[in-house]
This record gives sequence, structure tokens and C-alpha cells, in this order.
Amino acid sequence: MTIKTIILAAGQGTRMRSKKPKVLHCLAGKPLLRHVYDMSQQLAKNSVSIVYGHGGEQVLSEFQGLDIYWAEQAQQLGTGHAVQQALTQIEDKDTVLILYGDVPLLKLTTVETLISNVSATTLALLTVNLDDPTGYGRIVRDDQQKVIKITEEKDASEAEKLITEGNTGIIAVGGAKLKKWLGQLSNNNAQQEYYLTDIIAMAVNSGITIVTSQPQDASEVMGINDRNQLSYLERVYQTEQAQNLMAQGVSLADPTRFDLRGKIAVGQDIEIDINVILEGVVRLGNNVKIGANTVIKNSQIADDVEIKENCVIDNAVIGEACIIGPYARLRPQAKLAEQVHIGNFVEIKKSSVAKGSKINHLSYIGDSIIGSQVNIGAGTITCNYDGVKKFQTVIEDGAFIGSDSQLVAPVTVGRNATIGAGSTITKNTPANQLTLTRSKQISIPCWQQRPVKKAK
Ligand code: UD1
Ligand code: CA
Repeated sequence: MTIKTIILAAGQGTRMRSKKPKVLHCLAGKPLLRHVYDMSQQLAKNSVSIVYGHGGEQVLSEFQGLDIYWAEQAQQLGTGHAVQQALTQIEDKDTVLILYGDVPLLKLTTVETLISNVSATTLALLTVNLDDPTGYGRIVRDDQQKVIKITEEKDASEAEKLITEGNTGIIAVGGAKLKKWLGQLSNNNAQQEYYLTDIIAMAVNSGITIVTSQPQDASEVMGINDRNQLSYLERVYQTEQAQNLMAQGVSLADPTRFDLRGKIAVGQDIEIDINVILEGVVRLGNNVKIGANTVIKNSQIADDVEIKENCVIDNAVIGEACIIGPYARLRPQAKLAEQVHIGNFVEIKKSSVAKGSKINHLSYIGDSIIGSQVNIGAGTITCNYDGVKKFQTVIEDGAFIGSDSQLVAPVTVGRNATIGAGSTITKNTPANQLTLTRSKQISIPCWQQRPVKKAK
């Protein structure tokens, strides 16, 4: 069975009050429409069409390079009209799945159940029981509980408005039937739109049975119309991720103050304090501790690493038993071996640091190769940039860099070399020797301080 998914995403989303099309607003760092697309990609034998309209260029550029058939709906004349725009892609024998670009949390299992309900004699409809069904199309059933039609709220009688089973809009049905029924739609209704929902009564009239199923949770089928709903579903999503992580053996100091915007692989006995944000693809080994307010993006953290409060770690690799922070910044291509200590106000970019080295206070290390057991004193700066090009600094094993030194690249500090505090190093320094560029300290005797007016 070939599945053709049609995602409706042409609506404007006026209530977002945004220049950006609604479906490009992000939930957990990813556009709403991308959530729907990624879920549909997990279906076997599936190809995807997206019906777009408002903000078309932005939507297309965001999804560049993906295997999608784009169908433009220049004027939004209703959900039925929207589906019609993608029909050129549909063959009679296909099973068509209709999804919504602004319903981001729909689960694969829910869709799989829906699809399993489609046959030559059935149409599969996802419905949801709601305490307050306001705004939803109502599922109208006969006295044998068979679905006979969907009535939109604006067209509903007082009796129909009391029905609490709502239409999610999500449908699966055979291609030939869908084409036939869509061709018969009219816009003779309260909103003068071509309603997709009208195909339900047509199906029933042709002897087709409507098979309904429900999501596990109503949040799966909630659409986003404004920023309030977006923030609500963000929390629903984050709560679920937090619960999954805790089930895998991760301790979260407060699951309501944890955000995962991407994918994570975790070891055991990880402790994460409040307000930590993990983005992209992050791997955390066993016994990793992460302090409050730390942001980690696309990075690998090995076993027994402690990251203290307020660190920013982006595209870095951290070896076993390192201690990072508080207030450290690891930038792209920072690569730390085991037992490295990076302290407060230290920035490391495109540099490797070998085992057991320490950079504990107020330093900038860029484009550098740092050996093992190196000690870099407070305030050390690798001057890697002459305004045009970047150059490399090499600090060999066991070197000791005195505080407030500048290493002007390209430069190499030899093995076990010592650099005197306050030096500006512009030439390679020999191994095992002390190098310093400091001018000699002098003292002037018989020095008279200026008189200071004393307060009365
Ligand atoms: C629709 C259903 C309603 C259901 C509700 C669930 C119809 C007629 N009604 O109503 O039964 O309870 O969804 O949320 O189908 N869209 C287009 N082009 C259009 C119109 C809509 O692409 O011309 C897209 C929108 O971007 C949106 C989706 O279709 O993603 C639903 O449209 P919306 O206007 O929100 O439908 P509702 O009136 O809420
Ligand atoms: Ca809607």
C-alpha cells in the first residue's frame, strides 16, 4: 500500500500576529510544519505533498532539499479546496492521509492506527472527545452510533453544538474515492468554503463506513492558532521529554524547568539542575552533572564530567572526568581530552586540550593545540588573529604559562617550558627553560608622595 500524505499549510495564522507564516513558528526549536513532516517520514512507503499559500517563499526555503511535492493554494477557499490542489499527485490506488501543518504533536502510532482502518469499504477518521468542543466540527452519529456526517460549528444546530466528539480534521481514505468526492464539493455553507468535512456524508451515502479512532491524548490533535497555544503545546512536549529522560535514569531537579530542543542520548545517573537547555544532538555519558542555567548544543560529553552553573557549550567534545565552569564557554571545535579543567570566564574555540591540563581563570584559547598536564595561568590570551588571518598556537606537554601572558600566534611553547607572568611571547620558546619578556622591576628611594587634602 502506497501512502500519499497531504499536509495542509496554506492558512495565514492571523492570530500569531507575525510576519512569519504560522507553520514556521518553532516548537522545541523546530518549525511546526517540520514536526508534522518528520512524523510522516516515519511511515513506510509514504510520499509527502504540502499545500502552501501564505508566506510561500519562506516556507519553501525552509524546506529546501527535502523530497516534497509543493502544491500552491493561492486563495484559501477551504480545507476541501486545499486538498484538491495536491490531487495531481494522487493515484486511484493510493491511500491518502491528510494532516495539518499546525498540529505538531500528532503521534506516529495514532496515525498508524488510523491508516490500518482504511479499506475499500471504509474511510478512517480521527476524532477527539473534548470537554469544550467550541470551534471544532462535530461528529454526528445515528442511533446505532454510526457516523453520518460532520457539521462545522458555524453550521451546527443547537442540538449538534452539544456533541462533544470533535473532528480533528485528520483523515485517511482511498485515492479514487477522495478525488470523486472532492469534485462534488460545494461552498454552500456559513463560511462559503469548500469543506473537506463534507466528504463524510458523501462517503456514507455511497455505502462507505466511517471508522473512527482517537489519539491517546487530546494534545496530539491540538492545532496552534496563537502564541498562547504555542507555549502551551511547548510545555506539553517538554513535559513528555522530561518524563522520558527521567524514565531512562536521568535526574532533573525540576522537570518544568528543563528544555530539550533536539535529540539526546544519555547514560545513567545523570543529574541536571534547573534551567538547562539542550539543543541539536547532545550525548551525555554516565554520571554527568550539569549545573543550573547551562546551555549545551550539538556536543558530546563523556562519563563523569561535571559542568557547573552558567556554561555555554556549542559543538564541543568533552572527555571523561573534565570539570567545566562555572561561566565557561566552549565554542565550536573545542575538544577536551580526559580530566581537563576549564574554569570561569574561559573561552575556548577550535582548540584541543590534552589530558589533565588546566585553564582555570579568565582566558581566551583559540586555534590552539594544548598538550597534557599544561597549566595556563589566569588571564592568558592566545592572540590568534592579526586582523586578516588566523594562526595557530602550540603549547607542548607540561608547559606552565604564567598569568596574564599573551601568546602571539603562530608560536610554539616547548615541552615543560615555563613562561613568566605578564610576558608577551612572539617567538617559539625552548623546552624546559623559563622564558619571560617582563621588564625589570625597579624601586625609587626617597620618593615623596603628593600631599593629599584630608577631610576635616
Ligand atoms: C477544521 C475542520 C473542523 C475541525 C478543525 C480541527 C473543515 C471544514 N473543518 O476547521 O471540522 O474540527 O479543523 O482543527 O475542514 N487550510 C488550508 N487552506 C484553506 C483552509 C485551511 O491550507 O483554504 C489549512 C490551515 O492552514 C490549517 C488547516 O487547514 O492548517 C485547518 O484550517 P482551519 O481554517 O484552521 O480549519 P477550522 O475552521 O479550524
Ligand atoms: Ca483550526
